[in-house]
Amino acid sequence: MAHFPSGFVWGAATASYQIEGAVQEGGRGTSVWDTFAHTPGRIKGGETGDVACDHYHRYREDVALMQALGLNAYRFSIAWPRVQPDGRGRVNEAGLAFYDRLVDELLGADIQPWATLFHWDLPQALEDSGGWLNRDTAHRFEEYAFLVGARLADRVTGFMTLNETYIHFLLGYALGQHAPGRTLGLHAFPAAHHQLLGHGLAVRALREAGARSIGIANNFAPVWPAGERDADLDAANRVDALHNHLFTDPLLRGEYPALALDIVQGTDPALLDVILPGDLAVMAAPLDFLGVNYYQPDYVKANPASPTFGIELGRLPDRDYTAFGWPVVPEGLTQTLTGLKARYGETCPPLYVTESGCSVNDVVDQDGRVRDDFRIRYHEAHIDAVQDAITQGAEVRGYFAWSLMDNFEWAEGYSQRFGLVHVDYATQVRTPKDSYRWFQNFLRDQA
Ligand code: FCB
Repeated sequence: MAHFPSGFVWGAATASYQIEGAVQEGGRGTSVWDTFAHTPGRIKGGETGDVACDHYHRYREDVALMQALGLNAYRFSIAWPRVQPDGRGRVNEAGLAFYDRLVDELLGADIQPWATLFHWDLPQALEDSGGWLNRDTAHRFEEYAFLVGARLADRVTGFMTLNETYIHFLLGYALGQHAPGRTLGLHAFPAAHHQLLGHGLAVRALREAGARSIGIANNFAPVWPAGERDADLDAANRVDALHNHLFTDPLLRGEYPALALDIVQGTDPALLDVILPGDLAVMAAPLDFLGVNYYQPDYVKANPASPTFGIELGRLPDRDYTAFGWPVVPEGLTQTLTGLKARYGETCPPLYVTESGCSVNDVVDQDGRVRDDFRIRYHEAHIDAVQDAITQGAEVRGYFAWSLMDNFEWAEGYSQRFGLVHVDYATQVRTPKDSYRWFQNFLRDQA
């Protein structure tokens, strides 16, 4: 397999609501995900993140697993409602203290802490005043970013402001499959704008607080038309504008892509009134890196009857599919990484793959092993894809597997297992899978 430069960052990623549990401990406030998961019918099997992987109590064991694997980095997220239970004002010392302990534990294990400030668990109190539809949330995020920065910037290697602004906009505000469950279609545009504004304000706040390296973890997908018809090509361009360019052009070019603005304006011209003079300059605050979360391409067909913007996502033929039904397309990662370089040129900061992974219906066999060869092949192929991108001139500096361990997969509850470590949710027993051993050997060979 490929050999990577020394200093390449090898990590695993998680997110607070997906692993922490302890939702009512340590002074934590309620998040939109608590509310959503406790609403009947929202989550498969009626499951919630109340306990999840109980990482809040077991973080030492989890850091030990990372250390034994040989990771040199760990990407986690900070639960805003642990730090500010009401999303504003009052700071909850016990919440900050938890992340303090986690960061110190990581450093003690020679693992770089990489912290995401927002991985979708907005304090419910802010949602009650409009969530990301409300411009004030961007300012609250700035305040929260400063608080976290002031506490942790001396020890955190990389900060990411938000996770997957597009997915949060799409599933949380446009389609309603995620918290806060709004179904606004493209009328959700203010939730996109305010996340991007919040990002820019947070970059500034983190710098003031002394952060060394700041980025964002956005979701990217190469967009492939499912046919040759003009309508399919047009649909593909529209998806590309909304999925990829809308959430990154403002950060790296200081402007919204014209096609995305046209689409939003075509929905309702008044939607663009949320863009105030100076906003784009705030969003374009210089970044030290760009995080790339990659899972699959968008395979796009035009379908005027489709409720989702006249667009239908098709199934790519001749591919392996994960348990989630996602196609395995490693070359899509190469295309994404080289495409960013091509689109943004000199203004493209160094790239890190901040998530890549697959779900498998894993079981612990009689002999205690979890034979997840599918996942081993997945990561091998995606690491090769990163190598190909580097060969083609992309500056990629790290790869974080999603995920360290099985966890609460949002609307899918506990049904999708993405971990290198298996979690038995009844007993909280952690069992390293074959992919964990494979990764451990791979990292030994890299050393
Ligand atoms: C990404 C999310 C992450 C996880 C993976 C499977 O979109 O950022 O939390 O759910 O998908």
